[in-house]
Amino acid sequence: MRTFGDEDTIFADMDRLNPNTKTYQPETLPERESELDQLHSALRPATMGSTPLNVFVYGPTGQGKTVGISLKTSQLQAFADEKDMDLNVVHVRCKGMDKSYHVMTHLLKSLREKRLGPGEELPSGYQKKTLLAMIIDELEEIGGTVVVILDEIDAIGSNDYILYELPRAEPDGVRLSIIGITNDLQFREGLDADVRSSLGEDEIEFAPYDANQLRDILARRAAGALRDTVVTDPDNPFDSLESDVVADDAIPLASAYAAQDSGDAREAIKLMFRACRFADDAGESTVAAKHVKEAHEYLEQAAVERGIQSLPLQRALALLTVTQATITGTKSPETTDLHDIYQVFCEDLDAAAISERRFRDKLNDLADSGILTKETRGRGQGLGKTNRYELDVKVETVLDNLESDSRLGSFITETLRPRTKS
Ligand SMILES: Nc1ncnc2c1ncn2[C@@H]1O[C@H](COP(=O)(O)OP(=O)(O)O)[C@@H](O)[C@H]1O
Ligand SMILES: [Mg+2]
Repeated sequence: MRTFGDEDTIFADMDRLNPNTKTYQPETLPERESELDQLHSALRPATMGSTPLNVFVYGPTGQGKTVGISLKTSQLQAFADEKDMDLNVVHVRCKGMDKSYHVMTHLLKSLREKRLGPGEELPSGYQKKTLLAMIIDELEEIGGTVVVILDEIDAIGSNDYILYELPRAEPDGVRLSIIGITNDLQFREGLDADVRSSLGEDEIEFAPYDANQLRDILARRAAGALRDTVVTDPDNPFDSLESDVVADDAIPLASAYAAQDSGDAREAIKLMFRACRFADDAGESTVAAKHVKEAHEYLEQAAVERGIQSLPLQRALALLTVTQATITGTKSPETTDLHDIYQVFCEDLDAAAISERRFRDKLNDLADSGILTKETRGRGQGLGKTNRYELDVKVETVLDNLESDSRLGSFITETLRPRTKS
């Protein structure tokens, strides 16, 4: 067994490469200068005794929205504190709150805690109108300027009461600004026109980072996180990175992977962090492209496994038919063959079978998420085309990750598992 302490390490301050926002918050976001300038302009009225604007912020995940808005509002808070201005920022993370009601209870709790200190209970049992009135009362108690951040507000879907009412509420003696943040573009499109115009007095888009921006982000996070690694020119982090620990091609590879995926900075940081940990755990003194590659495969595999574990029943069954065909040595089965297997499975499981057409949709969904590969071939002259499917993951990966599913577990253990052992 390894013992703690005395181990050589490439890390100087591991937290800096930790993608968890609670563990580390960057103090600058040069890649978001123009977006944060727009936010600055919307909030600046607060410093002049006027009402800051409502802002709608949108863009895919991992684009620095949460971190950026929190940096800018902390800056405003610090300014207000210094000038003895009455200003409060309240941040509500709405993830998982599927109704306006939940958002309102959390908002009320956060507002109370602003005034009374931590430890307030989550209010419950009120009608939503009452709750709204309580929120307005609480805002009036606090007074001055209040900036309310509703982060990941897309969670509420079409249950948008709070977004309709809050911007219209006019609490006495309060200059209220609402910053709504969404990761989901469709949410913005789907908003009621009234809501959109009152909430989005200003709209700020956080477009996906490109590979060059990701390189700079990774260079800045690596400097400080790793030993003997520094950025000498803050305006050109990657180009000026000097390191005895990071090989030249490691950061470009990690950035290329992340850019090709979705330009998500969290994914890029996660990948680099994992690569550094692989190198460090192996007792190596440099992080090279091979560690990045290894980390990429590891994270992809983990994502595929999570994807398989969370498949809805019909898709899970469709996946099992291809798995079965693989186990029995059938090469590239067609939809019809797979549907036959599927019907037998449904009988075994006492489940109602869906039509071949709908079943094919499930297979195609699996191909879209990279669990299967699909090939469309002609059947021969005049016979039209057919789809053929194969597993893009190991048989074991499918079985291991579906076996804990209560609906399929014993079926897999009793019917599919034994055949793999021949
Ligand atoms: N420009 C940047 N420089 C350094 N780190 C960044 C940058 N943009 C995002 N990050 C990091 O990426 C992760 C995701 O950022 P976050 O603000 O949570 O994204 P979003 O809210 O858009 O999903 C966090 O760990 C954050 O610190
Ligand atoms: Mg966020």
